Amino acid sequence: MSTVILGIESSCDDTSAAILKDGEILSNCIANQEAHRLYGGVVPEVASRAHQINIIPVVDLAIKKAGIQKEEISAIAFTRGPGLIGSLMVGVSFAKAFALSLNIPMIEVNHMQAHVLAHFAETPKPKFPFLCLTVSGGHTQIVRVKAPLEMEVIGSTIDDAAGEAFDKSGKMLGLDYPAGPIIDKLAKQGNAIFEFPEPKVGELEFSFSGLKTSILYFLKKQLKQHPDFITEHLNDICASVQKTIVAILIKKLKLAAQKTGITEIAIAGGVSANSALREALNQLGKTEGWNTYIPKFEYCTDNAAMIAVTGYFKYMEKQFIGQEVTPLARYKF
Ligand code: KG4
Ligand code: ZN
Repeated sequence: MSTVILGIESSCDDTSAAILKDGEILSNCIANQEAHRLYGGVVPEVASRAHQINIIPVVDLAIKKAGIQKEEISAIAFTRGPGLIGSLMVGVSFAKAFALSLNIPMIEVNHMQAHVLAHFAETPKPKFPFLCLTVSGGHTQIVRVKAPLEMEVIGSTIDDAAGEAFDKSGKMLGLDYPAGPIIDKLAKQGNAIFEFPEPKVGELEFSFSGLKTSILYFLKKQLKQHPDFITEHLNDICASVQKTIVAILIKKLKLAAQKTGITEIAIAGGVSANSALREALNQLGKTEGWNTYIPKFEYCTDNAAMIAVTGYFKYMEKQFIGQEVTPLARYKF
């Protein structure tokens, strides 16, 4: 008999549902919430309300697109955390009710572990042990992965996440939220002619709050002399900001590879969609002799395929959870 997993993701502002059958993704549907653009960031209450509107149509679509009947689903995997508590509650409550109605087990998934395991939604898959640089809007971690469900964080940020660094820099430049993809696009037409200092932190630690401050002071100083500085140099500023963030990420990843001796290297999370980071990793793979793994765009940012994949690994181990489960805004692994 086939194993069919329904994955549900609702940790931030994307509502997503995916169907995985015997390890293969059949559908991965995502409803984005455009409303947050107006506010320059994710507004938790707006996000929760939108999840409530989106969740049933998205799950329905995922089931239809996969060409299965809901009665074929073997288990429901859902994001338990970390994330916005109101957003998580919508996904968790939905998963509970649907599992109860279908009389099938539930599997709780850590969103950050799922970003790492997104690599198993496609081929080629990394070989164990591998290192994964997980870079998203809320986290920046280097993870040593020994087995699908055995991983440890060996480096992380002491303040802002890499995605936050992109988004906050973009906000200072008057760009919409999320600014990461916009900076990526504008940087392609610019040159990295401005320099920002790299942070001084521990070996495998990241820090991005200093960068944010130096960009702010840099812009203030320039705007005093040239009021049109941002409009005239937007592409070059974007290229410079992006170059600095990517350089910080790559430097630490290289150090982690040297320290652990691991040559299977992956990136994951929303910022892994960044073209300069992807390019830098490809280059480094060649010079360092690494096998590198970069997810396709749809598996970089928040998606339920990665939740279903993680759920499948847990299903094999019979790691189920009862109806008493509650979401966790903070959830370390
Ligand atoms: O993983 P994700 O979708 O959500 C979280 O779990 O946070 O990551 C979202 C982050 C945002 O900060 C967004 O600006 C960033 O990923 N991002 C990018 C790009 N695409 C998304 N940052 C830089 N370049 C991109 N192309
Ligand atoms: Zn994420």
